[in-house]
Amino acid sequence: MKVLDAEFVQGYIRMANDGWEQGWHERNGGNLSYRIKPEEVDEVKEELGFDKPWQPIGTSVPGLAGEYFLVTGSGKYFRNIIVDPEVCLAIIELDETGTNYRIRWGLVEGGRPTSELPTHLMNHEVKKKLTNGKHRVIYHAHTTNTIALTFVLPLDDKVFTRELWESATGGAVVFPDGVGVIGWMVPGGRDIAVKTAELMKKYDVVIWAHHGMFCSGEDFDLTFGLLHTVEKSAEIHPAVVKQKHSAVHTQYSHIIAVFVHCRKLFRPFFSYPFFRVRFPDIPPLQFLFYFVLQIHQQFPVVGNTGIYHRGFPATVFSLLQ
Ligand code: 13P
Ligand code: ZN
Repeated sequence: MKVLDAEFVQGYIRMANDGWEQGWHERNGGNLSYRIKPEEVDEVKEELGFDKPWQPIGTSVPGLAGEYFLVTGSGKYFRNIIVDPEVCLAIIELDETGTNYRIRWGLVEGGRPTSELPTHLMNHEVKKKLTNGKHRVIYHAHTTNTIALTFVLPLDDKVFTRELWESATGGAVVFPDGVGVIGWMVPGGRDIAVKTAELMKKYDVVIWAHHGMFCSGEDFDLTFGLLHTVEKSAEIHPAVVKQKHSAVHTQYSHIIAVFVHCRKLFRPFFSYPFFRVRFPDIPPLQFLFYFVLQIHQQFPVVGNTGIYHRGFPATVFSLLQ
């Protein structure tokens, strides 16, 4: 079978294009890798060449020795994958030590696998072991809202997990183990790969501060869905924070309004001694009338026209009735 006719390749291309349409892959941003099943390698073996040399991976993944992967090429644009998969993608084979790879198909115009190959492969190695081989997809995307959150929240696993869970109910169901977060590091090397793989022992989602996200999953649907859900929670997050703030603000303004109102209400009583000193000739009954008027003015009286009448005219009006 032709590589491009294989179901796993079709699924891979669809997922990559979905990511592009979500806006997560500006320029050559992001990369995707799939650990190919032995029977799928068999299906396409007629198209796998042997003419490319072995190259160092840049790290060591003995747990993946002899495995095949479908990967994006370094510098290739996700938006071009659907148009030109043979130019943008490669099938690579790892050697028996898990330290070298060679290209068996694709990248027909030259190039090499993604610069994040060490992270992809180290994540695959961790997940293959922990899930008894179930996880096969590692996806890296430059997810706008999640990146924005890393400029706002403390870069801490617990904080991010809580904030993302609270922003959408689906979160705790889709990523029950939470998310890991790595502070700024230079991408594309072994150091960041080691750090990410360490967190992948605990989580299926690892956020790279100010850069993007890595997700691991069993198949294309689950992995895309996972990354999509985390990103959706991050998108909702600012609105949730705004709502919380305005709820607190409303409560405070109610308390302040009641306080101001009470102050107005009792002002005539507090000012009585000063009035007595200033206008000793005014008889106390007139003061009483003045107090009633003052207090009455604090309350709106709804007339039958629906218009608010306040103060003296309304008082006189109601007394006449
Ligand atoms: P590559 O083009 O090498 O895959 O790099 C893109 C990227 O997102 C680096 O983190
Ligand atoms: Zn990236």
